[in-house]
Amino acid sequence: MKCRRCREPAVVDVRRHNAAFCRDCFLHHCREQVRRAVEEHRMIGPGERVLVAVSGGKDSLALWDLLLALGHRADGLYIGLGIGTYSDRSHGFARRFADERGLRLHEVDLAHDLGFDVPEAAAATRRAPCGACGLSKRHLFNAVALEHGYDAVATGHNLDDEAAVLLGNVLRWEVGYLGRQHPVLPAAPGFARKVKPLIRLGERETAAYCVLGGIDYIVEECPMAEGNRHLGYKEVLNALEDRSPGSKASFLFGFLERGHPRFAEGSAREQEGLSPCRSCGSPTTGEVCAFCRLRERVGAEPRRERRAG
Ligand code: AMP
Ligand code: FES
Ligand code: ZN
Repeated sequence: MKCRRCREPAVVDVRRHNAAFCRDCFLHHCREQVRRAVEEHRMIGPGERVLVAVSGGKDSLALWDLLLALGHRADGLYIGLGIGTYSDRSHGFARRFADERGLRLHEVDLAHDLGFDVPEAAAATRRAPCGACGLSKRHLFNAVALEHGYDAVATGHNLDDEAAVLLGNVLRWEVGYLGRQHPVLPAAPGFARKVKPLIRLGERETAAYCVLGGIDYIVEECPMAEGNRHLGYKEVLNALEDRSPGSKASFLFGFLERGHPRFAEGSAREQEGLSPCRSCGSPTTGEVCAFCRLRERVGAEPRRERRAG
């Protein structure tokens, strides 16, 4: 196999693009995919400051590295979720990445700063931990971005993640979620802009990017995510992709181009009915936002609101 770009021996193939690349041309390919996604969806403007949510895994560390390589001003945010040694280890990878490159990493520890962790929240709500975990992460990404004046929050959701979420939303016709499923959610009062610059890269590509680019990341997956519905959707989509490469991309990009606009209006109307949470000020439909309700349920006593980065 020869590299599509330079004709030297290839080390990675990307079946979706019917192409193979040598190391340098593959890194270039990844940068190009992110550059195109950022431009196409106007995710980040010139000179804007981005807060990258980093979990210590391959996607978010690749994302941070790629945004910096493309010349963006990007700091990191790590959230300690209190999931035993998994959290300690993932924190170590995020910290090391930042230290080795002299980057700024904000850190928030759920237990220390807000008085509860994900296992406690899961026990209190008697639901799958991923719900409380996702809610806490979204709340804190937004709060830290607003507090420090970042123009956008970037997460490492990739093509596989987004296609799996889309399949789940379509299977249950979640029209509200479909209206909000987009690689850019614009800023609104109380909300920072949210962007997903990796939507043009699959998880095999982000893993290869880290390996070839010398980025150390935590390989193990979250131990609490077992049985997560999205893992099943990913398996189904992988089987389809195997038979016809490019299925995932056409499913997701076709939706963004032709499906999303039909659902977007309804979700814009939902945003209009929001008012500030009585407890934390975040926009919410009720009096108290879902994050503060969760905190009340867990009976959390924050020792300190937030730790500065
Ligand atoms: P997940 O919700 O685990 O699928 O992760 C989706 C994205 O959220 C990742 O690509 C990261 O950008 C971000 N993320 C996940 N876990 C953390 C964490 N502990 N701290 C900061 N960001 C995170
Ligand atoms: Fe959230 Fe595992 S990372 S439950
Ligand atoms: Zn609140």
